[in-house]
Amino acid sequence: MAANAAARDRRVRPASRPFLLPLLLLCLVFIFLAISLFKRASPIAPRSSGTLQMSWNRESNSGGSCDYSIGSWIYDPMHGSGMYDSSCKEIFKGWNCIAGNKSNARDLIKWRWKPQSCDLPLFNPIWFMESHRHTNIGFIGDSLNRNMFVSLFCTLKRVSGEVKKWRPAGADRGFTFLKYNLTIAYHRTNLLAHYSRWSANPNGGELESLGYKEGFRVDVDVPETTWAEAMPFHDILIFNTGHWWWAPSKFDPVRTPMLFFERGQPMVPPLPPHVGLDLVLKYMIRYVEKETKQSSIKFFRTQSPRHFEGGDWDHGGSCPRLSPLSTEQVDELFAINKNGTNVETRLVNQHLHKALKGSEFHILDVTHLSEFRADAHPSSAGGKKHDDCMHWCLPGVTDTWNDIFATLLGEIESSRPSS
Ligand SMILES: *[C@@H]1O[C@H](CO)[C@@H](O)[C@H](O)[C@H]1NC(C)=O
Ligand SMILES: *[C@@H]1O[C@H](CO)[C@@H](O)[C@H](O)[C@H]1NC(C)=O
Ligand SMILES: *[C@@H]1O[C@H](CO)[C@@H](O)[C@H](O)[C@H]1NC(C)=O
Repeated sequence: MAANAAARDRRVRPASRPFLLPLLLLCLVFIFLAISLFKRASPIAPRSSGTLQMSWNRESNSGGSCDYSIGSWIYDPMHGSGMYDSSCKEIFKGWNCIAGNKSNARDLIKWRWKPQSCDLPLFNPIWFMESHRHTNIGFIGDSLNRNMFVSLFCTLKRVSGEVKKWRPAGADRGFTFLKYNLTIAYHRTNLLAHYSRWSANPNGGELESLGYKEGFRVDVDVPETTWAEAMPFHDILIFNTGHWWWAPSKFDPVRTPMLFFERGQPMVPPLPPHVGLDLVLKYMIRYVEKETKQSSIKFFRTQSPRHFEGGDWDHGGSCPRLSPLSTEQVDELFAINKNGTNVETRLVNQHLHKALKGSEFHILDVTHLSEFRADAHPSSAGGKKHDDCMHWCLPGVTDTWNDIFATLLGEIESSRPSS
């Protein structure tokens, strides 16, 4: 909290030197704030600058009434100035747009997300770690969840350098911030459910008799081993799936289709992928709710939008824009009835919302705010064969996802009876 204290000193001293009584009162207020900051059950604190003022703002937002997913991006040259940069080692090379010389890479974090009816508190890494000692946080999903995981890692690493790198419970990668005994891990899984290559058995079978020769067997009721055993380990979980369900270049509907199996048996007649997705979500949600600690807090993140324009990723699509889209442009690109290149964005969400209704999961809705950010993908930075208009530059948009994650988490924790 040293930075916090320094910030306070700067704010208090010049104006109040001649006024001892106000200074004393301010001190009392700060002491009170400091005490409430350290109570685990209190809401997440805003970043150190402007602690007092923003805490009052938060009072008026309390009760979780603010919808952080609706709002607009505001250009603010000071925004993001204290953040991690391209030197964070965990940033995958293709996402490191500053090092890759993307022309607008340093401008990306100068856009601040402003929810319509409140302010979004910025992520305060010290506060986050102080209030999550002895805690395990798991990101479970595809490379877009890894992108968010890396954002969180770099944000925390900047203020707490002592980390142990290891792979807890099947994780692809993981780190423990030793000073706080806080572990964050990424569990890689594309479909959540287990899948593997399938080819026709020469002795025949149900699928063979329907003419299937090659494909992918997807076991709708079997979680992938990369995360199946990790449920009791984590206290906080963030899931996603979506991109791979609309990925015909891998799961080619004709040559290598998804073939769904339930209780080890092929499902006939074969299901189209979107119906398979509903089944997988149903089974995986049930599995997670059964296998996690009762006290765990579970999020499902909504779909991350792609921004291919002029064609899909393998048909010359690109994302050369240098500033966020307007509302009209967003609708043009993503409206389901327009059936554009990136139409899966909102389609996936329809499936997620349906499946998550009535579950123990909190929805981390990042879709609409990200839809504006056609400027924030790696694009052609660093010389790629195809433009990357799917992942996000780091630092960048997934930092805002983590702002929202931390804020929602704080609200959920503070609304629980403290133990
Ligand atoms: C980025 O620019 C720097 C300085 O001009 C250069 O040394 C570096 O090779 C460039 N990096 C890439 C990935 O093009
Ligand atoms: C670290 O946290 C875990 C819970 O996540 C706990 O089981 C373990 O005992 C803690 N280790 C130390 C050294 O406090
Ligand atoms: C949407 O567009 C794709 C090709 O871009 C086409 O194959 C598909 O039939 C269209 N779907 C609808 C519902 O119009």
